Amino acid sequence: MTAKNKNKPVINPVIKNCDCLKLLKGLEDNSIGHINCDPPYNIGYDGGDEWDSFATEQEYLDWCKQWIEECVRVLKPQRMMCIWGTQKSDTFLRLKLDLLNSIQSLHSQSAIHWSYNWGGRSKTNFAHKFETAWCYSKGNHFYFNAEEIRIKRKMPKNIRTGEPYTNGTIPTTIWEGNLSTISKEGKGSNFHPTVKPQFVLQRMIKAYCPPDEKVLDLFSGSGSTAIACIATDREFIGSEINKEYYRKSKERIKKHQGSLFT
Ligand SMILES: C[S@@+](CC[C@H](N)C(=O)[O-])C[C@H]1O[C@@H](n2cnc3c(N)ncnc32)[C@H](O)[C@@H]1O
Repeated sequence: MTAKNKNKPVINPVIKNCDCLKLLKGLEDNSIGHINCDPPYNIGYDGGDEWDSFATEQEYLDWCKQWIEECVRVLKPQRMMCIWGTQKSDTFLRLKLDLLNSIQSLHSQSAIHWSYNWGGRSKTNFAHKFETAWCYSKGNHFYFNAEEIRIKRKMPKNIRTGEPYTNGTIPTTIWEGNLSTISKEGKGSNFHPTVKPQFVLQRMIKAYCPPDEKVLDLFSGSGSTAIACIATDREFIGSEINKEYYRKSKERIKKHQGSLFT
């Protein structure tokens, strides 16, 4: 971080064009304030770039075990790690039950569900339109900054006492909103098939990462988490294995640097 002026530091996200395990190897124990990872889901949804399929489910889970154990090592105690995936496949449940739940120092906390309402849909069944982040704290207690993420209450006052609500409320774990590739935040991201929306990432970062600590995303993709860190004034470090995504994400980040879109 370098000083732009006295009040506003410039956030320069660090992204390495390398395998996530290589990045992890260079990180110190207990050095990261929040981990927000959107890994391959092993469902073949990669726009033809072939990073989302593994030979077997077991191979996928074994690979996840490697980087998740390293994440636990680098995460500070009392901080949150959130891992995205989809319940379209049972693998994601196994990742939770067999893998994450088996790590002693991790404690399962409320999962966050991002729901959206765009794209193709089945004519013969309800449409599956959500993704889930398994959230685990290192240790039973964890940092949670309620003040930064309060929203307006639907009811202006307590219907029992008549007292007005003045302080807003903490959102539930179901967050609904679309990502539009022609909106300001989506612009320049359509080279990547699985972009995460800013409102989701920014809220997680504000809640779970103290302002003077660093966010880690091992699967940086189009650079969404880095951009969310710029918007929320957090330092960022990440890796992206694909050369083209890496290059284009740097361009996308440059365009957004310093802009506080939501
Ligand atoms: C689901 S996408 C992440 C998308 C990202 N959340 C965004 O908003 O753009 C997963 C990314 O992980 C990258 N990836 C796959 N295997 C990797 C590895 N071993 N190390 C680092 N990156 C990897 C893929 O190239 C892909 O861009």
